[in-house]
Formats: sequence, C-alpha cells, structure tokens
Amino acid sequence: MATYIVLLGPPGVGKGTQARILAETSKLAHISSGDLFRENIKNQTELGKQVKAILDKGELVPDDLTISMIRDRISKPDCELGAILDGFPRTPTQAEALDDMLAEFSDSEVNAVPYITAAESVLVERASGRWTCKAQGHIYHEKFNPPKQAGICDIDGSEVYQREDDKVETVTKRIRVYFEQTMPLVEHYEVAGKLIKIDGTQPVEQVTKELLAALKI
Ligand code: AP5
Ligand code: MG
Repeated sequence: MATYIVLLGPPGVGKGTQARILAETSKLAHISSGDLFRENIKNQTELGKQVKAILDKGELVPDDLTISMIRDRISKPDCELGAILDGFPRTPTQAEALDDMLAEFSDSEVNAVPYITAAESVLVERASGRWTCKAQGHIYHEKFNPPKQAGICDIDGSEVYQREDDKVETVTKRIRVYFEQTMPLVEHYEVAGKLIKIDGTQPVEQVTKELLAALKI
C-alpha cells in the first residue's frame, strides 16, 4: 500500500524545506503544487500563462486547474510508493479530489497530515528573506540558511532569486488567503484522526526530527 503524507501549514512555515528532507529520507516522491506552477510559468506553458497573475497576487489558482495538474503528477510511476504532498490540498474541494484520485490510482488514502505552525511575524520574516534556486527550487534564507557562496545554489550551482510573491504585502495577503480558504482542512483532518501538530518555530533539524518520529517513514 502506498504512503501519502499531506504537509499542512501557512506560507513560509517550512513545508518545502521539510518536504525535500522527508522525500529524500523516505524515497517517497515530493509533490509541491507551488513548484509545479512556477515550473509551468518558467516554461511558458498554457497553464503557466493562465496562472502567473494569480500567483503574483498571492491568490489561489482555481480548483479545477490545480486538481488536474496534481492528478497528472500523482499518476506518474515515481509516485507508486506514495508521496509527500506540499501545498496540496488547500481547499475542501481539493481534499475530496485527492481522496478520489488516491482510491482510483492505488487503492490508498491520506495516511497522515503534519500541521506545521508559527506566528505570523515568523512567517513574514522567513518568506521575505527566502532565496530560491532557479534550476530546481532548492530553498535558502538570507539569515537562517544562506548559501555558502552568495547568490549561488550550493547543490546545483544555479542562481538564486527572490520569489515575486515574497514581497511583504503579498506574503501578508497569502497568509490571509490561507486562513480563509485552507484552515477548514485542519479541522477536516483532525476529525479524521490524521492531524499531527508540529511547532514550526523550532530549528529545521528539530522540526525534521519530530516529523520523522511521528511519521515513522
Ligand atoms: P506555494 O509555493 O505552495 O507557497 P506557500 O504554501 O505559500 O508556502 P511557501 O512555499 O511560501 O512556504 P513553505 O512553507 O514551503 O516554506 P519554506 O520551506 O520555503 O504556493 C505559491 C502559490 O501557488 C500560492 O500562493 C497559489 O497562488 C499557488 N498554489 C499553490 N498550491 C495551490 C493549491 N493547492 N491551490 C491553489 N493555488 C495553489 O521556508 C520558508 C523560508 O523559511 C525559507 O527561506 C527557509 O530557508 C526558511 N525556513 C524554513 N524552515 C525554517 C526553520 N525551521 N527555521 C528557520 N528558517 C526556516
Ligand atoms: Mg513551499
């Protein structure tokens, strides 16, 4: 049976940072909806053209576009053992669609939902100081995790850049959107007995340690 883990938490809390580490440790695939949208924007695909302005404004992409992109990704052979889902689902409709696709593709379901939290001031400081690698989306922070050589990704040597939606006012908007549209999922997964609360204000290594202990992957 495949293992599917949904990482839930507000913008900038560390989902991408942790998802990359967990995927490497567990050999599960890492599926980041935000990374997939940014990849489409970079490659100027039809989907990329449709969603660019939405991401830049810090709003959510419509459910139908998001669900069909994830459906496509999750049906790939590297997801056979399961996946760490980072940024999806983000609305009740997306959560329902996820249940349907997991049942259809691998007769499985969401196993666990770590819910990583931090105060809004921490989120804004993290997102606004974030630097992302152009080639593969590796994540840095100017203060908490700077690249060894300024402006260059340690892992693949590509340039690092600041995301368009990481301006303070856009981050604040994204946090508001999160509270309005994604918070219902916290209750949904809590009622289902799948929610695992994790204090995201701790250092990266400590958050990873708690995730690994709780998930047993
Ligand atoms: P997405 O890319 O998913 O952004 P997000 O959810 O807003 O989350 P972030 O990527 O900003 O933060 P993160 O939690 O991954 O933190 P990170 O590890 O990078 O989505 C972007 C946009 O795409 C959305 O606004 C929407 O438009 C669209 N979209 C995506 N999914 C969608 C969906 N399902 N439906 C509709 N639309 C969708 O860490 C942040 C920073 O903090 C980094 O600099 C990192 O180095 C640092 N850091 C991390 N952990 C720690 C720590 N423990 N201590 C100190 N620093 C830390
Ligand atoms: Mg992310």
